[in-house]
Amino acid sequence: MASRPWQRRRRRLAASAFALGLIVSLYPALAQSLQDKIAQCAACHGEDGQSKDPKIPHIGGQPKLFVMYQLFFYREGRRKNPEMNLIAKALTDAELDAISGHVAGLAPPPPVGGAVDAARYARGAELAQQRLCASCHNPDYSGREQMPRLAGQYEDYTIKALQDYRTGARIGTQAVMAEAVRGLSDADFGDIAHYLAHFRP
Ligand code: HEC
Ligand code: HEC
Repeated sequence: MASRPWQRRRRRLAASAFALGLIVSLYPALAQSLQDKIAQCAACHGEDGQSKDPKIPHIGGQPKLFVMYQLFFYREGRRKNPEMNLIAKALTDAELDAISGHVAGLAPPPPVGGAVDAARYARGAELAQQRLCASCHNPDYSGREQMPRLAGQYEDYTIKALQDYRTGARIGTQAVMAEAVRGLSDADFGDIAHYLAHFRP
């Protein structure tokens, strides 16, 4: 059913009030120093770049170029996430460079805790081998250049990333990931994510 103009107006108003609320709550970032901006990342990604929330990625130890590309994609709106889009818009090119260097210098996360399901781990390893994931992400999944570290990342986050590449919501530098995940199911993603989260060389 087509919505009436006043309904559309109300929705627009609600949306802009929401955006305004976000801007106001993030406003101090606009006038802050580089150190203050880096401190802000800690609220979600943790002091050491290791987040406490499985929906928020660990960023510590990611390759500098990868972090820079992602912040650039968020800033340009090419990668969509309301919080990250707003945060990245407040960053200049020089800040993007400095913050990426800082993030890359933090220690990478250890393997995720909790029980390892040996069968799922083995199946994840087999899928990763068939798809040559390590040829780009390194044999220890530590990442390099524009290719992210995958080892030790939360399963929830890795699954979401793989789903975003499959639907095309996330494109990345050269759409290589869409090709890498073509034909894989959610169950496959789950096993691959389990393997990577608990990966031990
Ligand atoms: C309000 C919470 C929040 C804050 C503050 C925040 N982030 Fe994020 N960040 C997220 C979430 C949530 C995601 C995942 C979004 C998605 O799925 O695209 C993310 C994703 C990222 C990614 C992509 C990581 C990957 O593996 O794909 C990078 C890089 C990043 N953030 C860096 C930063 C930096 C640097 C700062 C500080 C300048 C920052 N973030 C501040 C919540 C936050
Ligand atoms: C041809 C090189 C290549 C291959 C093969 C490849 N990847 Fe990637 N992968 C990349 C690049 C480049 C990116 C960054 C893309 C972007 O900017 O979004 C990426 C991003 C990712 C991400 C996002 C992580 C994050 O923190 O945001 C995940 C998860 C991932 N790859 C998993 C895999 C898995 C699993 C496989 C095998 C099924 C695989 N990749 C195969 C190059 C590759």
